[in-house]
Amino acid sequence: MKILMVCLGNICRSPLAEGILRHKIKQYNLPWTVASAGTGSWHIGNAPDPRSQRIAERYGIDISKQRAQKFIKSFLDEFDLIIVMDSSNYNDVLSHINDGKLKSKIELIMNYVDPGKNTPVPDPYYDDDLYETVYEMLDKACDRIISKYADVQLANKNVIGEL
Ligand code: 4NP
Repeated sequence: MKILMVCLGNICRSPLAEGILRHKIKQYNLPWTVASAGTGSWHIGNAPDPRSQRIAERYGIDISKQRAQKFIKSFLDEFDLIIVMDSSNYNDVLSHINDGKLKSKIELIMNYVDPGKNTPVPDPYYDDDLYETVYEMLDKACDRIISKYADVQLANKNVIGEL
């Protein structure tokens, strides 16, 4: 399973989602890979925003080595799932598609928590107070992603109760 997390800048939300999911993948010993990208190009090559790094660190996750990259069309073939943060990201990714079959690979991340509601993960770039909320939303969604796609009972019986 290859999963790509996508937001606008690839410095706040999607690097956090990447770090959280990678942390859980390790805990459950799953043979998955996770990456992230932004639909915008302003921050290519940059480390995650210090506020995202700080909130991740508070929960024992180091995202400091991740670097921002821009979403490119070939990611639609390379990844099994393209998980976006809001409807604007969804439409940006969709604009790269000419084969309708690929559309089923794109999902809004909070639909793993509240299916069909299309709840956005708010962009915290201009609001310091949103980072905790964003972390909690992404953490919950990543648990649901794991429980949806992995047989976690086989991977680790002891932590299944947390899901
Ligand atoms: P992100 O947040 O999409 O969660 O990485 C943003 C980061 C930077 C900008 C916008 C959103 N920006 O306009 O530079």
